[in-house]
Amino acid sequence: MVNNTDFEFDFYFTWTKQRTANHFNIVKSEGTELITSDGSKIFDFISTNFQASFGHSNKLITENILNQIKQMSVAPPKGVFPLKIEVTKLLKKFLKLEKGKIFYTTSGAEAIENALKIARQTTGKKLVLARKKSYHGATLGALSVTGDWRGENHHSVSDWTIRVPEPEDDPSLEETKKIINKVGKENIAGFVLEIISAMNGVIIPQKSWWDGIQQLAKENNILIILDEVSTGFGRTGENFAFHHYGLQPDMVCMSKAITGGYIPFGAIWTSEIISNYYEENTLSCGLTSYAHPLGLAAMKGVLENFNNSEFCENKKILEAQFKNNMDEIKCLPNVKNIRQVGLLSAIQIKPELKLNWEDGIKVGLHLAFKEDIIILAPPFVTEKEKLKNAFDSLKKLLT
Ligand SMILES: Cc1ncc(COP(=O)(O)O)c(C=O)c1O
Repeated sequence: MVNNTDFEFDFYFTWTKQRTANHFNIVKSEGTELITSDGSKIFDFISTNFQASFGHSNKLITENILNQIKQMSVAPPKGVFPLKIEVTKLLKKFLKLEKGKIFYTTSGAEAIENALKIARQTTGKKLVLARKKSYHGATLGALSVTGDWRGENHHSVSDWTIRVPEPEDDPSLEETKKIINKVGKENIAGFVLEIISAMNGVIIPQKSWWDGIQQLAKENNILIILDEVSTGFGRTGENFAFHHYGLQPDMVCMSKAITGGYIPFGAIWTSEIISNYYEENTLSCGLTSYAHPLGLAAMKGVLENFNNSEFCENKKILEAQFKNNMDEIKCLPNVKNIRQVGLLSAIQIKPELKLNWEDGIKVGLHLAFKEDIIILAPPFVTEKEKLKNAFDSLKKLLT
């Protein structure tokens, strides 16, 4: 099932040496499981890459896509059609940001790229502030704000990024203030920040840190650009992670679960000040598949899930079960620490355990690893019994 050696394919594997790339043969996905060529069922404990939040066979998303493909499978960016008008309004409502406008993309990195362009264009300023423990996408602009290893050695515009300390290292933001004063607020277009950094270890800042960021942004006329690519659409228990903190962003970047991953898609919400700016200034951003009708249809399915009371109730129950299970995991001798919010968690294990992705697959779990941290983000539609079984397998792995 898992094979690390002696293979040759005509395509690349991402973020890895090709010769030793981890991989598995999956032939089907169904519900909350990936099914391998030998018939084994692997529980998708990370919702594929945070996008399959609604599982692999969500009826509302699938039906919307199938209906849309019959109606209009592709549309020009200039096209105006009822789905585009209606679902954009619904997205703004779901964001609880009813003013401003949405710009559509086909990925998370493109959302960040366009947010950077918009921030620089509307403020006339060049620099952005970003964190070291962050990931914002693999394109050159998005990599320039990415702080983790994936940005290294790429000739991007990283000179235009200034690193601010991690929340735990600067809880009262004294260092961040010094950085702003040194660099000069007249040079800083925006903060680019994940609200809760997902793959970099589920780092959940204190509310006081976020209040401080909001205050600094206001005092210094710096935009707040939030990256909700992994945390958006219910992952952390609220519609968006920024709702936990009562933040007032200038831009919100979204992707992944925006369509449950069924169609590659993304979006940026921009404030009314920004949307007003573009009434008389040219928006120099665009893409061939802008506001793709299949993406919009899938997003409509996602939002319809949240309008279904049964889905929402089950999700709340699952969140409580997930938390209880995480409290048990915390007590295992090989576990150093856990962090959990909604249906997202990080388990910091003793490094000597030396667990990896392949060990997870062997016990029927699709997990994500970041050094000695295991990240969990199960689909919202996971059945009670399946979650219980998944945690039982995880506990065995950890002992
Ligand atoms: C927080 C965050 N931002 C941006 C991205 C980039 O999204 P994409 O891979 O769709 O370009 C990712 C992808 O993992 C992410 O986790």
